[in-house]
Formats: sequence, C-alpha cells, structure tokens
Amino acid sequence: MTNNSPIGVFDSGLGGISVVNEIHKIMPHEDIIFFGDSANAPYGTRSTQEVQQLSFAAADRLIENGAKAIVIACNTATSAAADSMRERYDVPIIGMEPALKLACDLGHGEPQHVIVTATPLTLREQKFARLMNRFSATHTIEKQPCPRLVEIVENGQIENSKLVYETLHSYLDQYDMNSVDSIVLGCTHFTYFRSYFENIVDSHVQIVDGNEGTARHLHEILKREDLLNEWSILPPSPKTGTITLTNSSSNPRLLELAEYFVER
Ligand code: SIN
Repeated sequence: MTNNSPIGVFDSGLGGISVVNEIHKIMPHEDIIFFGDSANAPYGTRSTQEVQQLSFAAADRLIENGAKAIVIACNTATSAAADSMRERYDVPIIGMEPALKLACDLGHGEPQHVIVTATPLTLREQKFARLMNRFSATHTIEKQPCPRLVEIVENGQIENSKLVYETLHSYLDQYDMNSVDSIVLGCTHFTYFRSYFENIVDSHVQIVDGNEGTARHLHEILKREDLLNEWSILPPSPKTGTITLTNSSSNPRLLELAEYFVER
C-alpha cells in the first residue's frame, strides 16, 4: 500500500456510489475502488452480527486490492461495524453519520423539528442513540425507518415515480409538515430520492444528507495521515482519478445501474 493506492469504499449495495461521487468531486485525482454488496443487500433489516461479518468481508476484499483507507458508505454498516473495524484494520476507517447536527444547525440556535429517515438497524443501534441524546434535549427528533426505499434502488425501480411517491407517502403522511424544519436522509440509498422528497414536502422543509461531510472528513484524514496521492498534493495535474466499480452480484442489470449512478 502506498500514497498512490486507491481509496476503498463499500456499501450494502448501490447507495454508496453517491458517496463515491462526492469523494471524486472533492479529490478528483484520487483513484477509488467501490464494492457494492448487492448480493447481500439490504443490510438494514439484518442483525448487528450479520452486518459486522459482511462488513469485514467487504473490507478484506478492498484491503486485498490495496486500499489505503476504507470508507463505509453505508449508515447501517457504520453503526454496526465501524468500531470493530477500527480495531481490526491498520488503515483509516471513515464512516457515515446521519446528518442530524447539520439539520439542527440550520436553525441557528432555534429549536428544530427534524425527521431522521434511515434503516431500522441504524435507528436501533447505540451509535444513533448517542446522537439522539446529544440533540433531543433541545430539538424535536422523529425516527422514521424507510426500508422499502433501499429495495427500490436495488431493484432498479428508482424511475417508477408512482411506486416511489406511494412509498414516501406511506412513511411521511403521518407528520404535519407545517411544523417540520428538515428531513435527514440517513441512508446513502435515500440520496437518490432527494428530488422526490422535495416534490412532496413544502419548500420550507430542507432535505439534508451526510455525503459531503463524509468526503470532507476523508480528505482531512488522508491529509493528516500523509496519505493523499502525489497528484492531489501538487495540483494542477492532468491526472484524473479512476473509479472502479465492483459488486458481489453478477446480475448485469445491477452493474448497469451502478454505471448509471456514477458521475465520472
Ligand atoms: C441497507 O442495506 O439496508 C441500507 C444501507 C444504509 O444504511 O445505507
């Protein structure tokens, strides 16, 4: 492994490609290797132990491919496995976090009413309980599991607007949106539905996600650990980083979808 080795990124499936896009925007010279575990998706309805084992297998694969750092582009896997991965591997491990701080900060000191959408496992884990404890004394935080959104992405149904709107309404119609300030997309799969969310809520409701924050955090860590590649350190450089997409599923439709989501 050297500075010029790739950044490894994994997710339970295709959601993490939205994080790859953000990393590529911020660090265009870095090579990225992405592993989507679509054969085992969704993770969000599995047990913590199962998600840990699947995350170790994904990380082993990325390390074998020379990854100099691993981004867990999956909120569920971060909640279940980030701590044990940090004990197990020598390379930096960067996880996701539902962007609750970002949502609360939008109020500039005023109490906020925030709906956090995520998978059932993310919302059940200790990591999220700690985040809730930090913000729920001063803000109203609602937890909304949305597991069907993950299936819609993995089944390639994202452009089936009737299905997407029906699903979103089934999760969100119970809330009085007049009193809601923001909705957190606490699962990387959900970021593909941003415009659908925007279309069904009032314009005052802000939709926030943690992708950019994670990419910036990765950049800080690579810089601090002296792990940025030579073309990132001495811009301007003609070299553009490569993005390699791999997946545990050999379903050609999934591989096509992965290419559809990536922004090279
Ligand atoms: C899932 O596989 O259920 C979604 C993973 C995530 O939280 O991003």
